[in-house]
Amino acid sequence: MFKSIRWRLVIIYFLLVFMAVTVVGVFILDRLRSQQEEWTLNNMRQYAEQVQVLPSLRADDWVENESQLVESFSNWPIAQTDQAYLLRMDGTVPRVLSSSMGAQNLIGKLAYETEVIDNELVFNALNGEKEDKIKKGTYQPEDTVAHLVVPLFSVSGEIKGLIYVTSDLEVTNQVLSASRTILFQGMALALVLTVIMGSILSRSITVPIQAVTIKAAKMAEGDFDQKVDVKSDDELGQLAMMFNSLTDELKKTISQLSEEGSKLEALFTNMADGLIAIDTKGKLLHANPIARKLFVIDEMEKEQDVLSLLQELRPDVQLDHLMTSEDARGELMLEFSPEEIYRAHYAPFLNDKGERSGLILVFQDITEQYKLETMRREFVANVSHELKTPITTIKSYTETIMDGVLDDKEMSTKFLGVINNECDRMTRIVRDLLQLSSMDYQETNWELSEVCLQELLELVDLKMKISAQAKNQQLRIRIEPTLPCLTGNRDALEQVMLNVVSNAIKYTQEGGTIDMHAYMEESHLMVRVRDNGSGIPQEDLDRIFERFYRVNKARSRAMGGTGLGLSIAKQIVELHGGSIQIQSNLGEGTVVEIRFRDGNAQERV
Ligand SMILES: Nc1ncnc2c1ncn2[C@@H]1O[C@H](COP(=O)(O)OP(=O)(O)OP(=O)(O)O)[C@@H](O)[C@H]1O
Ligand SMILES: [Mg+2]
Repeated sequence: MFKSIRWRLVIIYFLLVFMAVTVVGVFILDRLRSQQEEWTLNNMRQYAEQVQVLPSLRADDWVENESQLVESFSNWPIAQTDQAYLLRMDGTVPRVLSSSMGAQNLIGKLAYETEVIDNELVFNALNGEKEDKIKKGTYQPEDTVAHLVVPLFSVSGEIKGLIYVTSDLEVTNQVLSASRTILFQGMALALVLTVIMGSILSRSITVPIQAVTIKAAKMAEGDFDQKVDVKSDDELGQLAMMFNSLTDELKKTISQLSEEGSKLEALFTNMADGLIAIDTKGKLLHANPIARKLFVIDEMEKEQDVLSLLQELRPDVQLDHLMTSEDARGELMLEFSPEEIYRAHYAPFLNDKGERSGLILVFQDITEQYKLETMRREFVANVSHELKTPITTIKSYTETIMDGVLDDKEMSTKFLGVINNECDRMTRIVRDLLQLSSMDYQETNWELSEVCLQELLELVDLKMKISAQAKNQQLRIRIEPTLPCLTGNRDALEQVMLNVVSNAIKYTQEGGTIDMHAYMEESHLMVRVRDNGSGIPQEDLDRIFERFYRVNKARSRAMGGTGLGLSIAKQIVELHGGSIQIQSNLGEGTVVEIRFRDGNAQERV
């Protein structure tokens, strides 16, 4: 309770007033006392001066007129509180000769024998000291008595006697005690008023401060809608005004900060890349949803050792230095699975003292890019290989001819036939690649026309019949009546059918059967080519449409295949807005299904 400013102010006021009243009171009482005493002494001096002029007192011979002297002295008027004694020298010792009315009867006693007469004063007076000496009785502090002794000299200059006056200061003491009581009462009243006034005054100071304190406490709890009433223009009013403007500023700053925070949070949560922050020990600080999914980190997980997870993914690289190295910046390839290949960019982050406090890692999905890059590399390797083989053959045959076979006409013709075949093969590869490339860059400038499947398949049947017959295969064709035509490029669509049907013939043993079936399924135009040939292993089915992909490279090449037929077919079908699928069972046969959307094939061409 006494820790509060309010009570401290009250106590300070109280002490100040107490001290002031005490000092003033003591001063006043002291002045009053000395004034009273001075007044009493003056009265006593006045008495002594007046009594001295008595003729009997002035006469040198006190023995003769002793009775007159005693009478006139005792009858001389004196204040009620005062007592006076006339002492005559008895040798060297003064003896009481007379006393005023009401005084103690000390007549005949030596000065030293009385209690009333102060010996020291008498002694000084006898030594001829002319100055008056005043001494107060000190028997009891409240029973103070003023003393005055005046020596009386004879004509010859000898001391003939003394006038000794005492005055009881009881009245003075009573006045002083009454004054003291009044002062104490006044002091008590002043102090009570001080406490009341001080309490009111300090309340007027502390109440606004308390109001600000309560509001500030609410602000500390996060409630920034706090306003203090400004009731005055003084320092407290200014404090209230400053508080209000502080809350406004804080509110503004906090809303800006939270806006920035939520923007960052949204960015952090919704960014396409994974993001992780780890401390200098490699422990998880933050992770966005993508990063959590990648590392399979639970939402609640706090102590996850991300560095160890990274190290598991890349055991070939020493990653400890990332936590200590001054400039830990760079990138790292991480393969979470064959379908999840990421590039991690990392950089350190610092705390507000500029010290390193951890590492930020951003994980970028490069699976597609990686696959494309791998395909590109494979493709270049394949093209080189495919072209190198015929070139090697051509070169070796040419060298053989040049080495003398030229003279042997039959052999030369045979060899030149091989060279011609290889040239044709190269031409075919280059033509196919050019076609694929122009389709990749969508540079095909196809003439569009109505293509009816009936017509198209009959033409393919006509063209492929000879090959089928050569292998003693049965090529059957079944076309549903009233099939709609589609808009597309006749030559390209014919090439699709030829590629698919030629595959069926090529990869089906002698005497096999190839069925071509055109029909409507839902709103799609379908062409299905089924054979009962060698079939394709399941593991190869996914890659069958890749460029240069062949199930059995050697066999396929021996049959003149380059592995481009199906990828060209797929590209053409897709450019016509359709799709191509292949199903196969090894040793049982293969089904190729081509699906066109009815009548809209032209849209994408
Ligand atoms: N009907 C099928 N039966 C069995 N295997 C097939 C069939 N169709 C395609 N294949 C397999 O798919 C591979 C790829 O076929 P694709 O037509 O792309 O190339 P290719 O026939 O080898 O050469 P190209 O067609 O360029 O002359 C073939 O090498 C073959 O192994
Ligand atoms: Mg083929």
